[in-house]
Amino acid sequence: MKPKVFITRELPEEGIRAIKEFFEAEVWPEYTAPPYEVLRKKAREVDALVTLLTDKVDCDLIREGASSRLRIISQYAVGYDNIDIECATKHGVYVTNTPGVLTDATADLTWALILATARRIVEADKFVRTGEWSRTGTGWHPLMMLGLEVHGATIGIIGMGRIGRAVAKRARGFDMRVLYYDKYRLPEEVERELCATYVDLETLLKESDVVSIHTPLTKETYHLIGEHELRLMKPTAILVNTSRGKVVDTDALVRALTEKWIAGAGLDVFEEEPLPEGHPLTKLDNVVLAPHIGSATHKTRTRMALLVAENLKAFLEGKIPPTLVNKDVVGVKKPGFQ
Ligand code: GLV
Ligand code: GLV
Repeated sequence: MKPKVFITRELPEEGIRAIKEFFEAEVWPEYTAPPYEVLRKKAREVDALVTLLTDKVDCDLIREGASSRLRIISQYAVGYDNIDIECATKHGVYVTNTPGVLTDATADLTWALILATARRIVEADKFVRTGEWSRTGTGWHPLMMLGLEVHGATIGIIGMGRIGRAVAKRARGFDMRVLYYDKYRLPEEVERELCATYVDLETLLKESDVVSIHTPLTKETYHLIGEHELRLMKPTAILVNTSRGKVVDTDALVRALTEKWIAGAGLDVFEEEPLPEGHPLTKLDNVVLAPHIGSATHKTRTRMALLVAENLKAFLEGKIPPTLVNKDVVGVKKPGFQ
């Protein structure tokens, strides 16, 4: 008999097919997440869960699942702040994620936001579309829609993991000076390769024209960027966030954008998702908003699904899954469904 897996949302078909080769799979058919109580009940009935960042996977759910037959949670995302990892480890439940395969897509989206925010693309599009341009009566004006010059500017990268490094790599094409801040400093040869200079957070904020965030959400990074940090930034600088909304204090950011402590922001992530209709951020012209689409390309979303399948298959075969998050779990329980 094949082990049972519950998948909390429809995934690219290729991934589902790969999972179904080895598992009896049930896919939650709705567009929105299964309600918490439904997921908790499923956790008691299956051997494996495939979850998304919108699924709350807390200790009650894990404990109950583990005391039944739940052995592995395979997250369809690189971030896993929605999962109580410590609790999973304690109960011998393996947790995997999808790093690597979404690095370039997310770095590309970051650059889309950097350029759109710096060069005011959304505002400009609206200007043309609404006829405002036409009403100015002139096709070109020396002072129309001036923005930040990205080429040759300084970019400050907060969080130099895979995605931060991919953003740094792209910055070289724009001849930028690259500063970075992270809990850990990169080896010197990697710094040299990326032409990146390690600085403290304060220096990064003071000197950068573009500040881009690429940290995971942890207790330490919660509201890492608040009023104090935003006030350190240049009034001409822009902030881009494609990591997790909670890394930035939204109320402080709204004030910073309204009172022009900074010039603009490009945001793919929010403290509350979906961003509520009519939110103060939606009223501001100097922000570019996207609905958490960092990894949203056909290619990447398929690769993520295949990596989920690969992790589940490895576990089934009694092997350590290739992108295991809680490595200590191996000492608690061996991989496999027996
Ligand atoms: C998306 O935000 C992810 O963590 O993969
Ligand atoms: C994510 O893949 C990261 O490490 O930045």
